[in-house]
Amino acid sequence: MLDASSPDLVVEADFPLVADDGRRYRRLPLRNTNKRFNPLTAPTLHFAIWGDPDTGEVRTEPFPGAVEVKPVFGDGSPAVWRWSRPRIDERPGDLVCRRVRGRNGERVDVYQRDWLHPAVGRRRKKLRTIWLADEVGSTDTAVAELKDVLGHVFESPKPTGLVRRILDTMPPDARVLDFFAGSGTTGHAVALANAADGGRRTCLSVNHAEPVRPGSNAALAGFATVADITRARLRAVAELVGGGYVELGAGELGGG
Ligand SMILES: C[S@@+](CC[C@H](N)C(=O)[O-])C[C@H]1O[C@@H](n2cnc3c(N)ncnc32)[C@H](O)[C@@H]1O
Repeated sequence: MLDASSPDLVVEADFPLVADDGRRYRRLPLRNTNKRFNPLTAPTLHFAIWGDPDTGEVRTEPFPGAVEVKPVFGDGSPAVWRWSRPRIDERPGDLVCRRVRGRNGERVDVYQRDWLHPAVGRRRKKLRTIWLADEVGSTDTAVAELKDVLGHVFESPKPTGLVRRILDTMPPDARVLDFFAGSGTTGHAVALANAADGGRRTCLSVNHAEPVRPGSNAALAGFATVADITRARLRAVAELVGGGYVELGAGELGGG
């Protein structure tokens, strides 16, 4: 299950090409294919580079055998590169020049050689900047999640989906330390992630014995401290989801 393809994970099959030294890679256009990026919105990324489609070599200056290549969209309108000039100069071995057949016949273009990193075996896609509540949950869904296991005893828990997306950026045997555990969302998310993908993550959840607010739902439910809520949730999660639960008393972590 751990090596299944997903929107967040790149798997080996996505890297069909093999370099002379045996490394696997895929070709990505060096040109930015998103029309929002063009010479008007990103003028510094619109410049000519030189490439030899026979040897594959790419440089930012002319050289014998090279032809000039400018970034263009499929319809021939001007585009921009994804890499700056200094970056191209720094990593010429990660670029390749080739002849390609386009809508308007054959042309010469430049591609990035995007390498698979086999040491990790699982290569992450770049995280998106905006995480939508529809995908990762919201405070409302978090309250409902907590209500399912313990009741409405914490005002602003985080959704487990949010923490699971963060966990997805780490190996499936990550050790997680949550020093401000509150209602225990992170420990809950770790148990769910392990159950979903067979991972062996562990989580150490800590919260100081902050008294709950007098008259709050937590006080009415019989909890004296926030740490009592943390413990009760994680105990309930271990029963529901599995994965185990070990309770340490105050001071057992050491350090005085
Ligand atoms: C915003 S809450 C965390 C909420 C949690 N992420 C959740 O989804 O339920 C922050 C927690 O940190 C705890 N806290 C504050 N100072 C602390 C400290 N010095 N050591 C441990 N816990 C602390 C508070 O009791 C509170 O429960």
